[in-house]
Parts: sequence; structure tokens; C-alpha cells
Amino acid sequence: MNADLLVVGSGFFGLTIAERAANELGLNVQVIERRHHIGGNAYSENEAETGIEVHRYGAHLFHTSNESVWEYVNRFTRFTDYVHRVYADYNGEVYPLPINLGTINQFFRAAHGPAAARALVQELAAEGATGDPQNLEEKAISLIGRPLYEAFIRDYTAKQWQTDPTDLPAEVISRLPVRYTYDNRYFNDAHEGLPVDGYTAWLERMADNPRIDVTLETDFFDASQPWNKAATVGSIPIIYTGPIDRYFDYSEGELAWRTLDFEEEVLQVGDFQGTSVMNYANRDVPYTRIHEFRHFHPERDWYPKDKTVIMREFSRFATRADEPYYPVNTAQDRERLLAYRELQKGEAKVLFGGRLGTYQYLDMHMAIGAALSAFQNKVAPMFGAGA
Ligand code: FDA
Repeated sequence: MNADLLVVGSGFFGLTIAERAANELGLNVQVIERRHHIGGNAYSENEAETGIEVHRYGAHLFHTSNESVWEYVNRFTRFTDYVHRVYADYNGEVYPLPINLGTINQFFRAAHGPAAARALVQELAAEGATGDPQNLEEKAISLIGRPLYEAFIRDYTAKQWQTDPTDLPAEVISRLPVRYTYDNRYFNDAHEGLPVDGYTAWLERMADNPRIDVTLETDFFDASQPWNKAATVGSIPIIYTGPIDRYFDYSEGELAWRTLDFEEEVLQVGDFQGTSVMNYANRDVPYTRIHEFRHFHPERDWYPKDKTVIMREFSRFATRADEPYYPVNTAQDRERLLAYRELQKGEAKVLFGGRLGTYQYLDMHMAIGAALSAFQNKVAPMFGAGA
């Protein structure tokens, strides 16, 4: 194909730009993707033995309050009325999360109303506060008090970061939301749901245009393939959604990420835990949470009644060979990112986007929203279309 635009990476950021450029501007778009499948980290597939849809890179729940993103995504998929809820196993007892009136009353064996519960948490927070919090533990205690911190935050955070919270900077958390109602909806957004026929069908529909050519298993840095960096930079506009440090050959140092390991298992029971996500708050359980995928789609009556798929999630620091999932974002990382942003200015025809290209955690609606703005304000003007 004779392409007008090269998109590196077929996640939501890259596909949104590709879709807009092809449909809105009539451009020929070449998408290259390193992996064997489309869709980036939102990719899902049906587990072979059970047919249950599994999110390959961790559970993905769609939610947004951005009306233009909601209108846009509904062009490609319908959504179920799934509402996400999370529970936590602490000392062998199950509590609702985020911390709410139900959690507080169960934990303190009480029947407080909202005002009494708020007063209790404020009193506990004031009791534990140390003035200027020096680490994550002190910060968390100053927000919700020691008992709730020790039960629901301390060990879970230690497992997520492989670091004791007293050794983590206070700024890792800015707030710890506590709800003084029994509402345990995980997200507060106006719209929430899961794609009716799965993420991959949605992602494939975005690329379903004869002007869009998606080439899989093609790495931008592999000089033997035709759409490689040396052959394309400067000669064709590029949307780059891979890691920003990799683009510049790590010249300013590597940016640190956390990764996840997933342990998937098919169990010969119809229902393992009765809900989609169970967090494990104690340190002696090595995983942070278990996902049970059948519960994301209770409407799918074709799922087997005698089998289920679960996935245990383990968290650790990433090496260069691992999938980067969550930016660590230390002061050193932020410094390096600024240096990369300076270098970026020299790449006039390359637009860096998405979570890897900007080194930030983005929910799906944020990646799509950022791509819609980038298309409008940067990509369309490159081709002489209005900003
Ligand atoms: P994404 O990573 O999806 O795509 C980038 C693509 O570029 C990848 O496919 C990669 O292979 C490709 N690429 C990289 N380098 C390349 C190269 N050199 N050559 C060719 N291709 C290359 N969001 C949400 O809204 N709800 C949720 O519940 C969750 N859950 C969740 C769980 C976990 C564990 C994580 C890590 C993330 C989430 N997310 C989420 C966030 C969601 O995954 C995120 O918003 C999207 O992946 C962002 O899409 P991008 O296109 O930016 O990146």
C-alpha cells in the first residue's frame, strides 16, 4: 500500500488515529504492530477449553464520563450494563471495596450512620497523623487512620510495589477515597459497560476500512522490515505509540515500569468466587487479586455451567524484556521524561502518543480521548484539514 500515514502500535490510541485519518480525511494508513494481534493491552480472546472471554493483559473495564468519547466508541460496539464491583479478602473475611460504610461497619462490628462513620475515620486519622508525612504509610494513616490502613492498604500496596510502604514516597497516593454510603460501585462515571461481543471485535471494527492496512508481528525497530524507523522517519508522518525511551535508544536512561504476571487456570466448577475480582489484602498470599472472567458477562448464557477461568495476578518491577504496565514515575523517571520530551521536539513529523509514548497511565477512555484531540489539533492540520 502507498501509505500517507504510518501508525506504530495498534492499541486504542493508534487505532483511533488510524480510523479518523482513513474515514475523516480519506488517507491511506499503514499500521504496524509488534505483537501477533491487534488492539494493544485491551486485546481479549476466548479461552480454548471454555470459550470464556479472557482479557490477555489484565482485566479491562470500560467507563467514561466524556460524552464525545462515549459517542465515538458506540460507533464500533454496543456495551452491556455490567457494573464493576470489587471485594477484598482480609484475614479470611470478605469486605466490599472501595472502603465504604459497609466496609467500615463490618470491620468495626458497628452499625454507624454516615456522620458517625465519618467522625470515626477523622478521629483515627487525626490520632495517627504525624504532621508532614514522610512516606506512603504515614500519608495513608493521616488520611484514613491506622486500623483501615493496616487492613486494606498496607500489605496490598507492599505486594504491588515489592516495597514496604514505609520505603515508598508519600506522593504515590494523593487521596484514599472513603464513601460514607453503602454504594460500592467501583467507578463513578456516567457510562460503564463491557463490549457486547468482546474487545477484539470492537478493535477490529475500528480498523475495518480498505484504507487501513494492519501488519502484525512487525517491529518498528527491526531494520529488515520496510516500515522501520530509519526508512520512514522524515519521509512520512508517523504516529508512534511505543515506549518513548526505546525510540531514542534509551539515550537519556530507561524509564521504570511495573509489570504483572498472570497465572491462568481452568477450574472444573461453574463458579469459583461468585464475583469478577477478589483482592487479597494479606501479605502471606503472594498474588494481589484473582479475576474470574465469566462474571464480566453474566448475560452470556452459552458459557459452560461446569467450568470457569480464573487468573491470579502478581505484581513486580519490570525488566526491559517484560511488558511495561504501570509507570513507576520516580523523580529520576520524571527528569528523564523531560529530557526525552526535549529530544521529541527534534522529530517534527513524529507524534508521540498513548500510554507508552507519553509514559503515563491512561485508562482506555483517556487514550481514546487523547487520540481524538491529537487527531483534531495535530494530525488533521498536517494534511491541510482544519484544526
Ligand atoms: P497499548 O499498550 O494498548 O498499545 C500500544 C501498542 O504498541 C501495543 O500493541 C504494542 O505492542 C505496540 N508497540 C509497541 N512498540 C512497538 C514497536 N516497536 N513496533 C510496533 N508496535 C509496537 N483501562 C481502562 O479503561 N479500564 C481498565 O479496567 C483497564 N485495565 C487495565 C489493566 C492493566 C493491567 C493495564 C496495564 C492497563 C489497564 N487499562 C485499563 C489501560 C489500557 O490498557 C490503556 O488505556 C490502553 O492500553 C491504552 O492504549 P494505547 O494505544 O495507549 O497503548
